[in-house]
Amino acid sequence: LQTIAKPPLTIRLCQPRGFCAGVDRAIQIVVLALKKYGAPVYVRHEIVHNRYVVEGLQNLGAVFIEELNEIPDEHHDAPVVFSAHGVPKSVPADAVARNLFYLDATCPLVSKVHKQAMRHQRKGRHVLLIGHAGHPEVIGTMGQLDEGAVTLIETEADVRNFTPADPAALGFVTQTTLSVEDTAGILKALQEKFPAMEAPAAESICYATTNRQDAVKETAPGSDLYLVVGAPNSSNSRRLVEVAERAGAKMSLLVQRASEIPWNDIGGIATLGLSAGASAPEIIVDEIINAFRERFEVNVELAITATETEEFPVMRVLRDVELTPA
Ligand code: F3S
Repeated sequence: LQTIAKPPLTIRLCQPRGFCAGVDRAIQIVVLALKKYGAPVYVRHEIVHNRYVVEGLQNLGAVFIEELNEIPDEHHDAPVVFSAHGVPKSVPADAVARNLFYLDATCPLVSKVHKQAMRHQRKGRHVLLIGHAGHPEVIGTMGQLDEGAVTLIETEADVRNFTPADPAALGFVTQTTLSVEDTAGILKALQEKFPAMEAPAAESICYATTNRQDAVKETAPGSDLYLVVGAPNSSNSRRLVEVAERAGAKMSLLVQRASEIPWNDIGGIATLGLSAGASAPEIIVDEIINAFRERFEVNVELAITATETEEFPVMRVLRDVELTPA
């Protein structure tokens, strides 16, 4: 039998990629809560937007719910964890009213945006939130303020159509996982239309979003195919696919697992860009590289564009939990 040589493939692997400090902390909170309090631990909304992570935690005894009223009476003393995306103020208030013990896994960088929005409101400013309608982070940030205190801005057209009661009393915040470039366009339009508008002290697109987009921008030009590991409901992952396309990848796709790679459509590729959204575990990146190794003679080039040292500690009540041995 004659063996057919595999075609060569260079994989440009982004570094940084995958889990950010906020996702890491949220997952740790669920694992530590299971360890300390035993199953079940309820988790409101997907803790992070990744099915693989959610299923792994379910196997350990986490129970995912969308609303607190899904917690049965006999388990009302089980802890409930709020997801990394943040929650409207009504959710912890509801938990208190129901006498539930909650652990808030909101990413500290999302909490910071909540504080910036509240600060604008305290100063009498109407708040513009740049973000995507329906995303849990947007629902959570809007839910920090009084009804009507926030206007969601999704596009530059929204800026043109927005007429404030007082153009001199405006402030803005953004979702943490937006496209850096799209947001810059919207901000420019806002600043031109409302020069007196107050900016937050620091940019609200988070370090992880910025770093992952920068790495993709660097590796996309000349890539025949760009793969981003992430879920369809993961905002930061979807932005990476757009960034890859805009920066010159011939084709870019979001995949959750290696089984989703459309092998029949990608036969002639020689260069593959590869990154992973902030909620995508490294094990799936490995799975994808291995799937390519079965079909190609793979050479992995690591494209290091930043070094990340961020780590967010879990809340005090979980700090004494020993994770080993089981
Ligand atoms: Fe936080 Fe940014 Fe990750 S806001 S959850 S560090 S993507």
